[in-house]
Order: sequence, then C-alpha cells, then structure tokens
Amino acid sequence: MKIAMIGAGYVGLVSGACFADFGHEVVCVDKDASKIEKLRQNVMPIYEPGLASIVKRNVEGERLSFSTELAESLEGCDAVFIAVGTPSRRGDGHADLSYVYAATEEIAESITKPIVVVTKSTVPVGTGDEVELILSKKLNSDQFAVVSNPEFLREGAAIDDFKRPDRIVIGTEDDRARAVMSEIYRPLFLNESPLLFTGRRTAELIKYAANAFLATKITFINEISDLCEKVGADVQEVSRGIGLDNRIGAKFLHAGPGYGGSCFPKDTLALMKTAQDNESPLRIVEAVVQVNDQRKRAMGRKVIQAMSGSVRDKKIALFGLTFKPNTDDMRDAPSIAIAQTLIDAGANVTAYDPEGMELAKDIMPAVEMMESSYQAATEADGVVIVTEWDAFRALDLKKLSGLMTGKALIDLRNIYDPQDVAKSGLEYTSVGRA
Ligand code: NAD
Ligand code: UGA
Repeated sequence: MKIAMIGAGYVGLVSGACFADFGHEVVCVDKDASKIEKLRQNVMPIYEPGLASIVKRNVEGERLSFSTELAESLEGCDAVFIAVGTPSRRGDGHADLSYVYAATEEIAESITKPIVVVTKSTVPVGTGDEVELILSKKLNSDQFAVVSNPEFLREGAAIDDFKRPDRIVIGTEDDRARAVMSEIYRPLFLNESPLLFTGRRTAELIKYAANAFLATKITFINEISDLCEKVGADVQEVSRGIGLDNRIGAKFLHAGPGYGGSCFPKDTLALMKTAQDNESPLRIVEAVVQVNDQRKRAMGRKVIQAMSGSVRDKKIALFGLTFKPNTDDMRDAPSIAIAQTLIDAGANVTAYDPEGMELAKDIMPAVEMMESSYQAATEADGVVIVTEWDAFRALDLKKLSGLMTGKALIDLRNIYDPQDVAKSGLEYTSVGRA
C-alpha cells in the first residue's frame, strides 16, 4: 500500500515509520519545513525511544520519505491519514479542528485517483461527517471514503504500543475503505491484534471514552490517596489491593501529581463540551477535569507544607519536568503549575530533566535549568521528584543529602521506600502514604 501521512508529530511520525516498517510505502508530510529538513537528515524532531532507528532503517530501505508538499505526495496513494494536532480551542475548550479541516481542503484540491481519507487525529463525534462534506464539495463520492481510525499509543512507549496494540479501531460504513484498512493493518492482524470495525461516529467516540476512562481511573486513585493521608492508609497497597481484581485491573492506578500531557487534559475537556452540547452531560468527566486541575496547584501547596509552611527565599530543586518519563513533551505537565505555585510563594526554583529542558525553558523562564540532578540539588532546601524518570530511581541519597542545605525530599511519584530514605537523613514526604 502507498500511504501519505499528514502531520509528522508524535502520532504521524511514529505511525508513518511503523507502517513503513510493515513494508508499506509511506510519505510523511508536514507544513513545518524545519521538521522535514531535520527528518531528511535523520535528526528526530521529538524524543521517542526507538524511533530514530526505525526511521533510519525505512528511509534507507526507500519505504519512508518526508515532504512539505501534499499534492505530489498524494500521487498514487491508496490512503491518506490526517494526524495533525487537535488542541483545545482558546476560550471554550472544544477541540480546535482548524488543522484537520485545512488538511482536508488540501486533500480535496490534490487527489488524482480514488483514495481513502483516514482521520487519525483525535476528533469529536461527527467530524468525519464534516470532512466528508468538505471533500464532496470538490470531488465525486466515488473518489473518496472517509474513515475514523483513532490512535491509542502512549508517548514514551509509542513504537511498542503501535506495533502491539490492544486493538485497532476502524470506523467506516464503506466496503472499499474497509478492504484498504484491512490491508494496511494486515501485519498486525496476523499478530492477533483485534481489528474492531465500527460505525464512524462510534469509532470517534471510542477514542474519547477511552481517554476519559483512563483519566477517571487516575483521578479516582489520586483522591483515594488524599484520603489515605488523612486516615493513615497506604495508597500503593490500596492500588494493589483493588488492581488485583481483574474487573478493575492494576494499570493506571499510580497516584501522583495529576495527569498531564497533550491528550488527557484536552480530550476530557472536549468530551465534556460535546456532551453538554448534546444535552447529555458527563458529570463524572466534569468532576475529573475539575479535580485534576485543582490537584496540580495543590501539589505545589503540598511541597510548601512539607517545608514547614513557607518556601520564601528557599531554594527548591525539581527533578523531572515532562508530564511523564521518556518523552520531551511538556504540554500540560504538572511541573508547570507546581513551579509557578512555588515561585509565587517566593521560592527560587532550579530543575533538571533528562529530555524536557529545551522545551521547558521557554515555558518556565523563571526556573533555572541545571545539568544534572545533583547540580540542581546543590544547596537546595528541598528536592521534589515530579516525574519518575529512571535516572531518579536510584539516586545516591546520602550524596544528595550531603549536597543539600535543607533535608526535605518530596516524592510526588512514590518511587522511594520511606525506610530507605530515612537512613539517608532526608525528611521524606510522598503521596498517599503515612
Ligand atoms: P503534534 O503537534 O506533535 O503534531 C502535529 C503535526 O501536524 C505538526 O508537526 C504540524 O506542523 C503538522 N500539521 C498541522 N497542520 C498541517 C497541515 N495542514 N499539513 C501538514 N502538516 C500539518 O501532534 P500529536 O501529538 O502528534 O497529535 C496529533 C493528533 O493525534 C491529535 O489529535 C492528538 O490528540 C492525537 N493523539 C496524540 C497522541 C500522542 O501521544 N501525542 C496519542 C494518540 C492520539
Ligand atoms: C494517553 C493514553 O494512555 C494513550 O492511550 C492515548 O493514545 C494518548 O493519551 C493520547 O490520546 O494522546 P499519554 O498521554 O502519552 O497517553 O501518557 P499516559 O501514560 O497515559 O500518561 C498520561 C498522564 O497520566 C501522565 O501525566 C502520567 O504521569 C499520568 N498517570 C498515568 C498517572 O498519574 N498515573 C497512572 O497510573 C498513569
């Protein structure tokens, strides 16, 4: 199959590279010329483990190429995927579909033979209908079919998630499109990844329902963790105790500083808006959004409390800035609200993150970026573990304690054992544990 992928971001680039790795011929198209230039020189524009070698292998095998020109890239393609951003629309929280519709207009101008148009971006229910309408203004109905194929990969584990998905959802009512999509995903089907065919609107909603459910699970355990602190219980044992029940499942029950990232925050908000517009409000999702928003700043206050109630003129080191480990993505990272709360309270904040500092330095200019965790912690009154990068899991705690002026270690990801920390002389605060 010959495939064009519009958008060479976290989803488009990973999907394009993996499709090429299955043997398809793929061209990734992006408007951002500097991104395309980097990719042509085998420099990855994002940090995603394993991506560079797959890209290199497939470029060398002439199955993967990069372009800024959609029209020429579409020549001879069986399918074109739209994998552009759908951020929150400024002001009302609905998904901003302008990039999706702009890409659709370009497709309508450019195609020369019948093609399947696949929305991989996360889009609200009914967007596929709108995409179809835009195309039908320029094209006959036998020239295209519109499919929803939401993506479920996680950043930091994207290659593995793409190549070994729990399921592939394909929303279409068109037999021809179904055949093309089956052929594209055939290598995965042979690995027994289930292909779930649904109506297009259903596929669109599955994506939002999945993200909202996962965000709810995290928020639920975060609230339980607050209760644990009040009643002297241990949230990690509660997670294990409920997660061993197969009906609940152990994943996404790690209490922390609140979910962040490029998707859960915007997708929960967009789903909430869709539900309100359709007079079918999702009150659980509304509560999740509110609780999670409040939690990020509450974590800043938790740090202040752990440091005797005041951080004025104190130095605090943040370990980890990205919204999760193994990514450079800073979108909606809890570290942003935590740093701001501490700065507002008069603290001097330093930070170290293995991959996120390049993007973080523009988002939090008042935070001093350092070259290592130990350097960030030197003469600090407190250290806060915000993101659970592996590099922070086996710190030399005695060395850390010796470098610091104060003794507070606030671990918002529960990666340390309280007893181990006690031996180092540090005063430990974690989440949902006594
Ligand atoms: P991103 O911002 O990393 O990448 C989007 C890319 O699209 C950018 O490089 C941009 O320059 C390009 N673009 C925009 N309009 C274009 C156009 N008309 N022509 C060519 N290129 C264009 O976004 P992302 O994180 O990859 O997310 C893309 C979509 O996938 C979103 O809807 C998101 O919700 C969804 N999604 C993301 C993830 C994730 O982990 N990031 C996972 C699943 C689904
Ligand atoms: C999430 C989903 O997991 C993917 O399936 C989905 O495709 C993607 O959103 C998307 O639509 O973009 P991602 O945002 O990359 O993926 O990362 P997650 O691993 O889901 O983590 C999201 C946030 O939740 C992070 O801030 C993380 O720290 C937090 N989290 C996650 C917890 O606090 N506790 C947990 O148990 C799990």
